[in-house]
Amino acid sequence: MKLNAIFIATLLAALHAENGADAWLRYAPLDEASAGPYRTSLPASIATCTTTPVAQSAERELLRGIRGMLGRTLRVQSSVPKESAIVLGTLADLKQAAPQLHLEAQLPPDAYWITTASLNGIPYTVITAANDRGVLYGAFAFLRKIALGESVERLDEKQSPHAPARWVNEWDNLDGSIERGYGGRSIFWDNGQAREDLSRVGEYGRLLASLGIHACAINNVNANPRMLATDFMPQVARIADAFRPWGVRVALAVDFGSPKTLGGLDTFDPLHARVASWWKDRVDALYAVVPDLAGFVLKADSEGRVGPSTYGRTHADAANVVARALAAHGGLLFYRGFVYDHHADWTNPKNDRGRAAYDNFQPLDGKFDDNVIVQIKHGPIDFQVREPASPLFGALEKTNQAIELQITQEYFGQARHSVFLVPMWKSALDFDLHAGEGPTPVKALVAGKTFHRPTGGFVGVSNVGLDENWYGNHLSQANLYGFGRLAWDPDLSSQRIVDEWTKLTFGGDSKTVETINSIQLTSWRTYENYTGPLGLQTLTDIVGNHYGVSVEASERNGWGQWHNADEKGAGMERTVAHGTGYTGQYRPFVAKVYESLETCPDELLLFFHHVPYTYRLHSGKTVIQHLYDAHYEGVDAVEDYVRQWKSLKGRIDDRRYDEVLAQLQYQSGQAEVWRDAVNNWFLRASGIPDAQGRVGHHPGRFEAESMKLDGYTVRDVTPWEAASGGKAVSCAVAKCSAILRYEGPSGWYTLSVRYFDQIDGISRFRLLVGDQLVDEWSAGDRVPTRRIDASSSARRVVPGIALRPGDEVRIEGVPDGGETAALDYIEILLERN
Ligand code: GCU
Repeated sequence: MKLNAIFIATLLAALHAENGADAWLRYAPLDEASAGPYRTSLPASIATCTTTPVAQSAERELLRGIRGMLGRTLRVQSSVPKESAIVLGTLADLKQAAPQLHLEAQLPPDAYWITTASLNGIPYTVITAANDRGVLYGAFAFLRKIALGESVERLDEKQSPHAPARWVNEWDNLDGSIERGYGGRSIFWDNGQAREDLSRVGEYGRLLASLGIHACAINNVNANPRMLATDFMPQVARIADAFRPWGVRVALAVDFGSPKTLGGLDTFDPLHARVASWWKDRVDALYAVVPDLAGFVLKADSEGRVGPSTYGRTHADAANVVARALAAHGGLLFYRGFVYDHHADWTNPKNDRGRAAYDNFQPLDGKFDDNVIVQIKHGPIDFQVREPASPLFGALEKTNQAIELQITQEYFGQARHSVFLVPMWKSALDFDLHAGEGPTPVKALVAGKTFHRPTGGFVGVSNVGLDENWYGNHLSQANLYGFGRLAWDPDLSSQRIVDEWTKLTFGGDSKTVETINSIQLTSWRTYENYTGPLGLQTLTDIVGNHYGVSVEASERNGWGQWHNADEKGAGMERTVAHGTGYTGQYRPFVAKVYESLETCPDELLLFFHHVPYTYRLHSGKTVIQHLYDAHYEGVDAVEDYVRQWKSLKGRIDDRRYDEVLAQLQYQSGQAEVWRDAVNNWFLRASGIPDAQGRVGHHPGRFEAESMKLDGYTVRDVTPWEAASGGKAVSCAVAKCSAILRYEGPSGWYTLSVRYFDQIDGISRFRLLVGDQLVDEWSAGDRVPTRRIDASSSARRVVPGIALRPGDEVRIEGVPDGGETAALDYIEILLERN
């Protein structure tokens, strides 16, 4: 009985270790060969000379990491011992506690210095910094080196963060839901209150601190005014307490209409004295309970949020009134540059949402207070699969700015698809906007380096949830890791970042590392290939869930994510010469490159130009043929990811192996839906056939609507391209079946059934050949739709089935709840031996 309990406890511990919760901070035991040198060289003791909770976290983390990786427990000393030790502390505290070590350095806030100091022949490994956060960051860096197998002997390494502000935003609502969150419910809120159990907040703080992220906005930018109610503030304080040991400061998103809706004033005019004093009063009250609040985030005049335009005031007026209230406490205001008209007239060819950020903010350059940071999305639209860098970065010389990168995969398959975003972010960060003397890449502009601004930096929209692995997909964690690493050092290469992440997350086995790195590094291009190549943007349902394919959803509405594809051609004409003039928002050097068809890169062609389908790209292919080919390449690549992943069986823990495999298999099925939908749509629009004869021809595919139906009825699917043939069959009675008489040659076949799995029911399916049941399954997946459309389109692959001419293949469906056991088609594909 006792043994059993121990066995179960050990098993649970092992399972827990690999559920993804510890992400890249697993501290898995090193193998003997790698551990040996560290065991020999590392001191046996640790002394921490700074007593703040953050410095104590650094000590605890070192104990935990070294215990985990090397199986050694450091001896905690209350002062610097007369034996070799790891010594932690701020420079000021070390000067007091150990003046004999003579540690002198000029370090900016949050920077760290790991060095070896020697006293009377005794070597000390010193981790020091100007502030306690820097000490913590140094501790994490030290542990990372050990986990990556790098030497930690005789170190003398100083690292400073590239930018002063490194924040994340969480779009969590007080009811516990998360706008555009795909990893479960909020770690902060439930039922209008801070969650009773905030342990995940502490764990998240640890992940953030390991990357040098020091502030987190804990509620949706579409903010609830209640955040500033006096009786609500203790809730905020509890969350701040949970983060504090990790040096992560809480920030709030606020609603600009609050003086009226919450404060009961008759105005929220930013130039009104009563409004200014209302903001001051609220901010003072908040700082009384959260003295280290980092500041606010403000979304105004955007997507239905009220803003200064109500009173004919400017964004600078709005920002400054709030910023002045914060300034007294050292708080920052991040004012979002995501301002555009979502009721734009789509019939006017001069209208262009891409222009909005620049048009709204460039004229205000120099008008914002010094504790305001304009927070600018990396591209001019909204986190689409391919956008140019926002021209606004290059247009603000006298205003602080930050780049907003979206870690949560809103337009990137929402954690059901694996897409490593670092290469995309780097293409924006490294892009030279030619905004001044010498190189002026976005990464320099946002850090305030180009125009010598007092602050600036990086904001990641993270949206972690209560799911054990934070994002609902193990591989998606690499995006948070990558965001943090880039915010610290944007010169790190994508290869370096993914390599670190994979080794820390899955261990150092070289085949595992190579395989996962290669999947991650190619995944953005792959996703782009099947969702929106050539700068078309993600061709998803932009007025709905932003998930499945819907080519025309972005057209003929006011949201402005237009791609203007019709029977003649595709693309938004954004040139100065013939279009909206957007290219003119870039400095002349860059404007010229995008303005001309000759120099505009193929991958952004349809973002900048409207061209006929027969237009030839630099690659020599026509636009239409490129679209077709890219979609086939995208699908092939995901199929290959599945094969590659399978080669890792036994090399990583079973749980994560199985979960990622299931995710990649699902992604491969979804990629197919995208491919067929987009290609069929463009075939119909252009009337130009695929030179390789694939589009619209699917040998072995049998549409459900052409099968013999018993109970099932045929229905149109909207949009038509979401289902093969534009139709599906659905079942409104207790049980239905679709039957097909197989007339092909005898052989071994894979049967692939395409069905629809909505969120509002768990239908059941059975697949029979003759009277023999060959497979059965339930449609219980978590997808964001109640409709029969591309988002719910799912695939069941049944390999190894022997078929003979005359066989009856039968699919039976049993509906449940709102779900009608709908079917699209079955594919019968000959297996190669
Ligand atoms: C996108 C997203 C919204 C979000 C908005 C923003 O449009 O779909 O959910 O509120 O961006 O960044 O403010």
